[in-house]
Amino acid sequence: DKGEFRHYMMKEIYEQPKVISACLEGRISESKVLTGCFGADSAFLKEIENVHIVACGTSYHAGLVAKYWIEDLAGLPCSVEVASEYRYRKVAVPKKTLFLTLSQSGETADTLAALRMAKELGYLTTLAICNVPSSTLVRESALTLLTNAGPEIGVASTKAFTTQLTALLITSVAIAVENGLSAEKEKELVQAMRSLPAYVNSALEQDAHIKKVADRFANKNNALFLGRGTMYPIALEGSLKLKEISYIHAEAYPAGELKHGPLALVDEDMPIIALVPHNDMLDKLKSNLQEVAARGGELYVFADKDTDLHNEENIIFTEVPKVDSILEPIVHTIPLQLLSYYVAVVKGTDVDQPRNLAKSVTVE
Ligand code: M6R
Repeated sequence: DKGEFRHYMMKEIYEQPKVISACLEGRISESKVLTGCFGADSAFLKEIENVHIVACGTSYHAGLVAKYWIEDLAGLPCSVEVASEYRYRKVAVPKKTLFLTLSQSGETADTLAALRMAKELGYLTTLAICNVPSSTLVRESALTLLTNAGPEIGVASTKAFTTQLTALLITSVAIAVENGLSAEKEKELVQAMRSLPAYVNSALEQDAHIKKVADRFANKNNALFLGRGTMYPIALEGSLKLKEISYIHAEAYPAGELKHGPLALVDEDMPIIALVPHNDMLDKLKSNLQEVAARGGELYVFADKDTDLHNEENIIFTEVPKVDSILEPIVHTIPLQLLSYYVAVVKGTDVDQPRNLAKSVTVE
């Protein structure tokens, strides 16, 4: 039932504050991550020395964000790979490596094949972060962390992605605690997590503004998404969403790669969507944006007020709430979901069931 919404996708976008709370529920206390939530005793957390993450599509993008968190917070090496590549190559598995799959459906053929292969490769254990409790992936993995997002009907994944990120944040902090993360820092991160549903709510308040931005954007044929750090996987996810439902060709680049090639594409017909985080990368990103502006590119900037960016002749500014940097990838996802949704509505595409795509890719 779509309730008051015209499409499932919009209903699912608006469910995010609630389902992120459901994902956190029972997994954190006031100041700690409750390690019992992995479904077995947490002894395995102490043993992990490496992490391999394998997934497809949007779930793969969630994995890319987690690499930043696991390496930053826990100091453990983490690699992330799409399942369709992983399953067909010889993988070198370091000792004591956790094999982590991410999947909304738990039925994606390549991800299941990767898990089955991994079970023969001597991993420490297998953990699935998944949205469907009765799925094959959950049944076949040793450990599970359910995302608790409820059924996702729209083919374009929205709430499944932000709850995957929430579950990955829980997992990253749990691993980090066994690798020297201080109790004080853990508390700080857990408190940030507790404020996440409220921040997602305030990101949704830009709805009417983003609808207007989408009207201006909808006649474009191409778009370039830029981000740095954890904003890079969010740029990838934003561009995937735009492609999937509005059929606009979009690419994503780490902003520092601009002058290594894609800058050649920039002219007045190539809009840039810039995800501007509020951290030590801010100044670097601003100088990337100047490179674009100097070439007549139209800039769609998503940033918080304190970044000092605002509407200008070639800058279309959308405010994103200012949050703890650990939450930025989740909160920045919301306006991009709304942008692709409204662009698709203007273009009149089938938002919930885009051409050529299936909700669950159960064949290769
Ligand atoms: O069910 P899964 O998370 O394993 O699905 C993986 C991809 O097929 C999926 O994320 C796909 O990319 C979505 N249509 C993205 O919106």
